[in-house]
Amino acid sequence: MKAVFLIRHGGSDKAFEIREIPIPVPGESEVRIRVQAFGLNFADVMARKGLYRDCPPLPCVIGYDAVGIIDVTGSNVTQVKVGDRVTCFTRFKGYAEYIVTDETGVAKISSDMPLPFAASLTTQCCTAWYCINEAARVHEGDHVLVHAAAGGVGSAIVQLLKIKEVIIYGTCGSEEKVRFLQEIGVHHPINYKERDYQEEIRKISGKRKLDVIIDSLGGRYVREGINLLGAGGTMVCIGGSQLTSATNFFDRWKKIFQFGLYHPGQLMMACKSLSGVNMLKLADSKPRLFLDMLQQIISLAESGTLQQNGGRVYHISEFEAAHSALENRQTMGKVVVRW
Ligand SMILES: NC(=O)c1ccc[n+]([C@@H]2O[C@H](COP(=O)([O-])OP(=O)(O)OC[C@H]3O[C@@H](n4cnc5c(N)ncnc54)[C@H](OP(=O)(O)O)[C@@H]3O)[C@@H](O)[C@H]2O)c1
Repeated sequence: MKAVFLIRHGGSDKAFEIREIPIPVPGESEVRIRVQAFGLNFADVMARKGLYRDCPPLPCVIGYDAVGIIDVTGSNVTQVKVGDRVTCFTRFKGYAEYIVTDETGVAKISSDMPLPFAASLTTQCCTAWYCINEAARVHEGDHVLVHAAAGGVGSAIVQLLKIKEVIIYGTCGSEEKVRFLQEIGVHHPINYKERDYQEEIRKISGKRKLDVIIDSLGGRYVREGINLLGAGGTMVCIGGSQLTSATNFFDRWKKIFQFGLYHPGQLMMACKSLSGVNMLKLADSKPRLFLDMLQQIISLAESGTLQQNGGRVYHISEFEAAHSALENRQTMGKVVVRW
C-alpha cells in the first residue's frame, strides 16, 4: 500500500515522500480500514515544521484521522464490523491507504456523509466537545470567544456552542471568513487582521466580561484572554499556531514568553481557570471517555443537529497544496485528502 512519509522538516514541497509499505495487520482489539480520505490537522503542520513534541522520529507517517471502510477486525472487536463505513482517530499513521487502529477510536457513519464532515467528527469535534463540556463547562447565556473560529476545530466548537445557546465571538483572518462565520451562526465575527479584537469585544459587551475563551493561537492571546475573562471564567488552551509564524529561534522564544506566567494564587484571587487540552494524551489515558464523546457526536451528526462546516476535499496529487493552504491560513472547516 501507499503511505505519505514525513521525511524531513520544512516546506510541504520537500517534507513528504509517498512510499510503498506492507498493509498492516490488526491486533485483537483493532480494526483495519481501507481509507477513502484522510484528514489534515494543524498539528501536522507543526510536526512538519519540527514544532510538535509528540511526533514520532522521522521518517514517519503522521495524520490523526480518516474515513473509510472496515476490511478486517481483530478477534475482540465488538463495536463495528467488516463493511462498515467509519470515521476514525488514528494517533498518527493516518496518511495511508490502509490504517490499523483501536476500536475505541472508531465509529460507524452513514454511507452518504460528506468526507470532510465525516473526518471532522473525531479529532476536531471531540476536541471541541471536550473543551466546552469538560475543560470549561459552558452554560446557557455564557459569552464565549473562539479564536480561529473558521478553522476545523473552531467551526466545530461553534456548531456545538449553538446547541447551548450562548453568545459567540469568533476571530478569523479575512473578510471571506467573516462571512463564513456569519453563515454558521457566530454572533460577533471579528477579523483580527483588520480590527483590534479586544477593543471590539469591549465595545460589544461593555462591562460584561467573557465566561470562556478557547484559544488555539497561544502567545500573547493567552495573556490578553486572561484579562478579558470575568470571575468564574475559564481559558482553555488547545494550541500554539502563533509559533509556526516565528521567523527565527529568538522570535519563537519571544512568542513563548508572551504566553505569560500565572501563579495559582493570582488565579484563585481572580477566580479564573486556566486549562490545557491534548486529545492524543486524553485518548490514550481515557479511551472510554473518548469513545463516549465520539458516539455522542455521531448521534448529533446523524440527527442533523451537528452539520458540515465548510471543508474541502483535495486529491492525493494536490497533497502539498493542501498542506500549504492549511499552513497559510487559506482553509475553512476540515481539510481532507482522498486517494
Ligand atoms: N490540543 C488538542 O488536542 C488539539 C486538537 C486539535 C487541534 N488543536 C489545535 O487547534 C487549532 C486548530 O486546528 P485545526 O486543525 O482545526 O486547524 P485550522 O483551525 O483549520 O487552521 C489553523 C487556523 O489557525 C489560524 N491561525 C492563527 N494564527 C496562525 C498562524 N500564525 N499560522 C497559521 N494559522 C494561524 C488560521 O485562521 P485565521 O487566519 O482565520 O486566524 C488558520 O486557518 C490548532 O492550533 C491545533 O494545533 C489542538
